[in-house]
This record gives sequence, C-alpha cells and structure tokens, in this order.
Amino acid sequence: MSDTRILFTPVNIGRTPLANRIVMAPMTRSRSDDAGVPSDLVPVYYAQRASAGLIISEGIFPVSAGKGYVRTPGLHSDAQIAAWKKVTAAVHARGGRIFAQIMHAGRISDPSFQPGNATPVAPSAVRPKGESYTDAGMKPYVTPRALETAEIPGIIAGYAQAARNAIAAGFDGVELHAASGYLPMQFLSSGTNLRTDRYGGAAEHRIRFVVETLEAMAAAVGADRVGIKISPEMAFNDISDANPQETYTTLVRAIGGMGLAYLHVGLFGTPVDYHGLLKPLFKGTYIAGGGLTRESATELVAAGRADAAAFGALFVANPDLPERFRRGAALAAPDSGTFYTPGPKGYIDYPELGQAA
Ligand SMILES: Cc1cc2nc3c(=O)[nH]c(=O)nc-3n(C[C@H](O)[C@H](O)[C@H](O)COP(=O)(O)O)c2cc1C
Repeated sequence: MSDTRILFTPVNIGRTPLANRIVMAPMTRSRSDDAGVPSDLVPVYYAQRASAGLIISEGIFPVSAGKGYVRTPGLHSDAQIAAWKKVTAAVHARGGRIFAQIMHAGRISDPSFQPGNATPVAPSAVRPKGESYTDAGMKPYVTPRALETAEIPGIIAGYAQAARNAIAAGFDGVELHAASGYLPMQFLSSGTNLRTDRYGGAAEHRIRFVVETLEAMAAAVGADRVGIKISPEMAFNDISDANPQETYTTLVRAIGGMGLAYLHVGLFGTPVDYHGLLKPLFKGTYIAGGGLTRESATELVAAGRADAAAFGALFVANPDLPERFRRGAALAAPDSGTFYTPGPKGYIDYPELGQAA
C-alpha cells in the first residue's frame, strides 16, 4: 500500500502553488438569494474548508440565462462580485486557494429561472428526461431552444467576462464546467448536439464550443488561471454520446497544449480507464475525482495516474478533511437532505475533529 503522505506534498496548478493535493470538488449548495448573490453563510462555509490544497467553488452562472437551479449564485452583477470578494478574502485569510467554477446549465433549467421566463437554450432542441426542482415544485424539463450560430460568440463572451469578474472578485482562477450534462457537455455529446454548423457533427466540431470558450477565458485572465472539468460517460441529466472515447481524446488533444492550469476528470462508474487515456494527452496538472477515498486517491497519485485528487461529499461533512486523512481519523457522513436547503443547517455546522457539534 502507498503512503498517504504523498497527498501532502505541494503541487502547482498554473501559477498557483497548492500546499497539498487534496482538492475540494465543486458543489452546488444553494445558499444564495434569488438575484444570485451568495449569503453571508457562504464565506463561513468555504473558510471552514480552506485547508484543502484547492477549493473549487460551486457552479456559478456567467449570465442570467445560465441559471439552472434555485438559489444558485452568479458572477455577472456588481452585488454578486462584491459578495464573492468576501468569500475569497475569508479563504485567503486562512491560507487557502479558491477557483470559481463557471457553469451555464443550458437545457437543464426552467423558464422560471430565465430572464423574462424565456425558454432555456441548448445546442439543439432536444428535451431532457426528468424534472426541474423549482420554487413551484418539480416541473418536467421543457424542450430547449437551439442556439443560432450567430448567438454563440455572445455566450462565449459571457464566460470570458465571468472569468474577468472572478479575478476581480479575488478568485485564484476559474474552472469551465464542461461536465455533468450542462451546456458545454451538451455541445460535446452526440445525443444532445444535432447541429449541422461548425459546432456540430464530427467530434472535432462538437468540441469547438469548449475549445473556443477556453480560448476566450484564457485570453481574458491567462491560460494558467483556467481549468476545465469533464465527466466522460456520466449519464446524469440524460446526456449520452455515441463514442465518448473518441470525443474526449479529441478534446484533450486539442486543449492539451494550451497551457491550462489543470484538467479535472470526474469518473462515475465507467469501466474505461479515462485517466490512463487522457492524462498523457494533457500538459498540466491532472485532477482525478469521483467516489475517491483516502486510499484510492493515494494509489492514483502514487502511481502517477493523477497529480491531485478531488473529493465532494466528504468535504461537505468533514471541513477538516485533509487533517482527518493525515491522522487516518474517522470520517463523518454527509446528510444529503440538507445539500440544497437554505440556511446554516447541514452547511456550516459540521464540526472539525475535537470540536463540539
Ligand atoms: C451536493 C453536491 C453538489 C454538486 N454540485 C456540483 C457542481 O456545482 N459542479 C460540479 O462540477 N459538480 C458538482 N457535484 C459533483 C462533485 O463535484 C463531484 O464530482 C462528485 O460529488 C463526485 O465526488 P465524490 O464522490 O467525492 O463526492 C456536486 C456533488 C454534490 C454531492
């Protein structure tokens, strides 16, 4: 068995040095107001978790039309930027590092979240199975409106502006959310991208939206402050691709030499060894995630199959997760009933080791 101390060695992501290789995965927690402004609980929550080598924030919408869930935050208004400044300052005060995850939900939304009750947009008018959790209860997803080719530069410009706003708000960098069936993955996947223009068709065209978005974000804030998350074969949000190995090797070959801060790959139950397939194609730090434990993360990093390891649910319930890993201490179990509920319960009330609940 490998030595867990390897997780406590430093690593760089782009220009940002990390004190350890334990990354807090991006997690939507829905503690913002209806205008997408994070509440005063949010700086407390992230500061509690600042001992992670890197925190990746919850998904943040770059433009109002990118919102997909109740009480999620944005990064386009002055009030949102001001609130995020409090978050980044609280994390930095405790020696932590934090990237902002930029998330446009695309078709995984509902008109009630859209400006003027508009129909959510997507690469193609393919309706997702499933329901949206709205203030008015569960509602079946609607058929999205296919973006016109001429609209796409505006969407990409929204990502670039959000990247600039993130740096203005004090984030160390940004992560493009191209996983979990949201807008960028809707472009990548053959089941949701039926376009016949330059953004659809063969893999080299389906990757174009993601490549151009990364280029615009990199031009805005520097490639070494831009990361990307992908989740090949994740079926969440009714997404599917006819040949994911081809899609993702084509993508990572195209972006592998851009000088990006990192590639973050979340794997969920696929038998395919995507870490083995993709890491050699990417020049930069490689973060693996998806159901990892202290032991499996140690093995991945020790074997050189990943440079850092991302943990989601464990960070919800264990704000001091690195220290617990270091000591081999017991781990608290997260309460999924309070993942997305408003208020402090299940958010900022998980104790550290030795702290009373
Ligand atoms: C409550 C919750 C919210 C999540 N929200 C996001 C999100 O906003 N963006 C994202 O990329 N992944 C999100 N995820 C997925 C995590 O980033 C991670 O990939 C996943 O939980 C697998 O890691 P784990 O097994 O260590 O939890 C979320 C997961 C959880 C548990």
